[in-house]
Amino acid sequence: MSTPPRTDKLKLGAFFHPTGNHVAAWLHPQTQIDAGTNFAHYVEMAGIAERGKFDLMFLADAVATRDGNLEALSRWPQYMNFLDPLTLLAGLTAVTTHLGLVATATTSYNEPYQIARRLASFDHMTGGRVGWNVVTSANTSEAYNFGRDEHYAHGERYDRAEEFVEVVKGLWDSYDDGAFVRDRETGRYFKPEALHFLRHQGEHFKVRGPLHIERSPQGHPVIAQASASAVGTELAGRIAEIVFTPLHSLAQGQQIYQQLKDLAVKNGRTPDDIKIMPGLNAIVGRTEAEAQEKHAALQALIHPDVGRELLQNALRGMDLSPYRDDEPFPDEVVAGLIAQDRRRYEHMLAGKPTVREIYQKFAGARGQRTLIGSPTQVADDIEYWFANRAVDGFLIQPADAPGGLDDFVTLVVPELQRRGLFRTEYEGRTLRENLGLRRPPSRYA
Ligand SMILES: Cc1cc2nc3c(=O)[nH]c(=O)nc-3n(C[C@H](O)[C@H](O)[C@H](O)COP(=O)(O)O)c2cc1C
Repeated sequence: MSTPPRTDKLKLGAFFHPTGNHVAAWLHPQTQIDAGTNFAHYVEMAGIAERGKFDLMFLADAVATRDGNLEALSRWPQYMNFLDPLTLLAGLTAVTTHLGLVATATTSYNEPYQIARRLASFDHMTGGRVGWNVVTSANTSEAYNFGRDEHYAHGERYDRAEEFVEVVKGLWDSYDDGAFVRDRETGRYFKPEALHFLRHQGEHFKVRGPLHIERSPQGHPVIAQASASAVGTELAGRIAEIVFTPLHSLAQGQQIYQQLKDLAVKNGRTPDDIKIMPGLNAIVGRTEAEAQEKHAALQALIHPDVGRELLQNALRGMDLSPYRDDEPFPDEVVAGLIAQDRRRYEHMLAGKPTVREIYQKFAGARGQRTLIGSPTQVADDIEYWFANRAVDGFLIQPADAPGGLDDFVTLVVPELQRRGLFRTEYEGRTLRENLGLRRPPSRYA
């Protein structure tokens, strides 16, 4: 059975890794070397994304540094020195007008009242352009900064996340829309019947409410998630409006796409209530050769300590120290892989690569899908995934910043627009309007 052609438009987000998504990007002379703490850099990046009519920009977060071998840690900036996402994004409110601003906040080491309040404030400040990436924290060391000796177990993290989001949404409905009459004649500031106490008491949280801020322009800021596990995917089907989970092949993409849309429907939502926007490491040049050259230049900068550390982590701590960089990737390591990892990394192991070749392949984009090509090639691939309903859009992860984002906006966006796949003007003012997501009614309406 053939599916009808799509009439909706592609969605685009930009992932702002400080110096770029490539692990060695900071070593490249064209990246903003102090990007982690350089506000002007983010102003520039947001300006590029908005010029490209992107739906949103996205900031990841962790509430701890990475832990591990200090030699390797000191050679890769990610999570070692960066601005708090909500604080940074609030600063960008004043220099953007349409771009959605999506910040990560963990449900494992926060309290719902504070997150509800900060995001609602931020939604007011932006006129409705805010999104929240709900994570349960991938990094175990976050526990050590919040009074715990170990991280919550995976299932418990997701239990807590579900209750956390439920409380936050309840708090966002504390006041009905239009509660604040501010009538100087009658002396009534707000309608008393429009104020609701949440009185939540659950397994993880006890929150009376109400939240002391009026319902925000979007009603609820947009909720994003990037879970990959079964329990995380189930939760996404219930709560997520954007899903950033990585997809490696078209067939796998189509399967997860359908699964998430079906889960949304099973939970009383519509397929359009959930937008699938996986990360995409796009490296674009004016020609394919130029793009390949850019990629090769970045790959050559990967330090062996960093490459080995990342690969060892991905291989669940397997020790690669007995093996030299230039020897073939050892059979005994392949034999020791659990089946799930063997399937995941099979495509990298073809053709007897060396240890160096494997860690370079893996480390550059941490095993995620990388797309290298001319503007036409990159647009072809994006169109193919979109038309075949494996995605609603992509979260573009520029390898280097700001140049990689500028290349995408200058070279690929016009091609997508020429094909009628992507907007030439923003449809609305709020993130929901641009993504085609409805504004949720209050639970008390
Ligand atoms: C694009 C993307 C962005 C993510 N951002 C964060 C983040 O900022 N902080 C975090 O702790 N985890 C982040 N994650 C990890 C996911 O939230 C999730 O924990 C991971 O995909 C494993 O899935 P699971 O939690 O269902 O096991 C991200 C994942 C992806 C794919």
